[in-house]
Amino acid sequence: MSVKISPSLLAANFMDLNSEIKKLEQNKTDMLHFDVMDGTFVPNISFANPILAQIKANTNIPLDVHLMIDKPHRYIKEFAKSADYLGFHYEAGSDVAETLKEIKNCGCKSCLTIKPCTKPQEIFEFLPLCDMVLVMSVEPGFGGQSFMPESLDKVKALRQEIDAKGYNCLIEIDGGINGETAPLAVEAGVDVLVAGSYLFGDKMAERMELLRAL
Ligand code: DX5
Ligand code: ZN
Repeated sequence: MSVKISPSLLAANFMDLNSEIKKLEQNKTDMLHFDVMDGTFVPNISFANPILAQIKANTNIPLDVHLMIDKPHRYIKEFAKSADYLGFHYEAGSDVAETLKEIKNCGCKSCLTIKPCTKPQEIFEFLPLCDMVLVMSVEPGFGGQSFMPESLDKVKALRQEIDAKGYNCLIEIDGGINGETAPLAVEAGVDVLVAGSYLFGDKMAERMELLRAL
């Protein structure tokens, strides 16, 4: 199975969102990564549900929603209306198991995300409830940061646990993914690559092809 690609909308040209999404469709993207930031859990504010709902109404690309918000259980029902994968942070102050179950009850695929400060072993007990886990390879909050190589060991530990127990759970990585770091991530066991600043722009087609060939 080849690696899946989830371009991060944070790096798109918002004045021309429709053609950005058409370009992603033409390049047969696997998903579209949608970063929701609340200015509290992370020191930045991005976009939220009204935009997500409009995107959902205008494309068939599966939407991969990354909530970077405090107490995310408050907003699961709302985001689940448009998300395909719905993920939240382990560190964000919601009951982890209950929130994962609620996501699944709403009909979405569940994703649990960890910040660079969190050890992968802390989330092992939740893996049976996860369709995907997201390893942050930068501090969440901003695009265009440099990849943290220590995230590779976290991916390896999760890969080993998921394979050993036979869980049906993808591993996604997010932050600083480009032509140099993507092969390392795939080698460590990543199934889904999020990339923002690397993919949006003139070279989207060739760069998506390059990542897909890994
Ligand atoms: C950062 C976001 C990322 C971001 C990645 O908090 O979660 O999805 O858009 O951007 P790049 O690929 O530029 O590091
Ligand atoms: Zn993200």
